[in-house]
Amino acid sequence: MIDLKFKTIYDVDLKGKKVLCRLDLNSPVDDNKKLRDDLRIKASSATIKALKDTKLVILAHQGKYGDKDFIPLKQHAERLAEILKPQKVTFVDDLLGDKAIAAIKAVNVGEVLVLDNVRNFRPDNDEVPIDDCAKTELVQKLAPLFDYFVVDAFGAAHRSQPSVVGWPTILAGPVVMKEIEALKKALDNPKRPFVLLVGGAKALDKYKALKYNVEYNIADKVLVAGLTAQMLYEGMGKMLGDANRKVFEKDLDKAGVGVIPFMKSHADQVILPVDFAVEKDGKRVEIPWNESLKTNAPIMDIGPKTLEMFKKEIAGAQTIIANGPPGMFEKPIFGKSTTELIDAMVAATARGAYTIIGGGEFGEAAEKSGKADKISWISTGGGAMLEFMSGKWLPLFVALERSYSKFPAKK
Ligand code: 3PG
Repeated sequence: MIDLKFKTIYDVDLKGKKVLCRLDLNSPVDDNKKLRDDLRIKASSATIKALKDTKLVILAHQGKYGDKDFIPLKQHAERLAEILKPQKVTFVDDLLGDKAIAAIKAVNVGEVLVLDNVRNFRPDNDEVPIDDCAKTELVQKLAPLFDYFVVDAFGAAHRSQPSVVGWPTILAGPVVMKEIEALKKALDNPKRPFVLLVGGAKALDKYKALKYNVEYNIADKVLVAGLTAQMLYEGMGKMLGDANRKVFEKDLDKAGVGVIPFMKSHADQVILPVDFAVEKDGKRVEIPWNESLKTNAPIMDIGPKTLEMFKKEIAGAQTIIANGPPGMFEKPIFGKSTTELIDAMVAATARGAYTIIGGGEFGEAAEKSGKADKISWISTGGGAMLEFMSGKWLPLFVALERSYSKFPAKK
């Protein structure tokens, strides 16, 4: 049972104050480095609206340092400006330097300043022990410039990183409040059977979360697609070919030999694909899983037999949590399973099941399908949502609880 004590922006009088607000604006990015979707930006605009009487500075991440989707936050600021019109939203291409500090000092009430990608600060790309976060340069330099700190980045709540948990005191905002309320419904006493579907990238994070879910009997079944499924096959010594392995190799090294005993003892609960769709000469080719080594073409989607298996499990479930798309739906020929599993979840919701889709990309697919409002909840959390659903106490929760008693009540 989640019982988190925390203060929110509605508990403190923030009018006229200088507020630093950590949001999760991390969005899917296309090959031309353009934002493909604005689900999290839209959700975060509610926080900014609620803070309209403050001198507001936004801190957020996009991708990880060195990754393909690691880009400045300029486009995010432009999108926020469109959504929040006529409110003034500006972007400064600096995070900690003189330019950023001058821009922070110049923010007036009602204005919004977006600082550059917080992952330019390297420690914010890794896990930092929570008690060390306050000592980092990011916090030491920025904290003295502000009266209050808001962390409404639910999607980053599982990260023990300075920008998330390092501030002297922390208030939550509407995004964190709504996520906790919606996810608690599934976590406290879920209706069974409880099916978890994982796909997409970040194979190691998802493996850890699904392992926890299975070992603690939270989910009855886990349907595994995407890079996590591929990593698990390789982890069991079943080779899929170089074209695929290179994408999740580092994650597999970290997952280690523990994959074999885990998969052996939970074979009936963890359902792996029996077939895949690969890309060959720009076409979709469907093959049994054990032919991918021969083909050595990139796996882009689950195959038709797997899709039917997954749909059957969803049809029999009462709680369905999905995180990460099962295929590379950005390319329409590989969007089949993503579309059909969203439809299966819409049908499940209509017959009374509780359904959640999480993670930037699956959320994007649900929005694009035009059926997002027929799913019980579209979460802005990817890994954060999965860890929350595993019953883990997230670093942001620790920081919020520590802050709880430090705030006087609103007069
Ligand atoms: C997400 O995409 O799940 C969140 O924005 C967190 O991103 P991260 O996995 O890069 O920390």
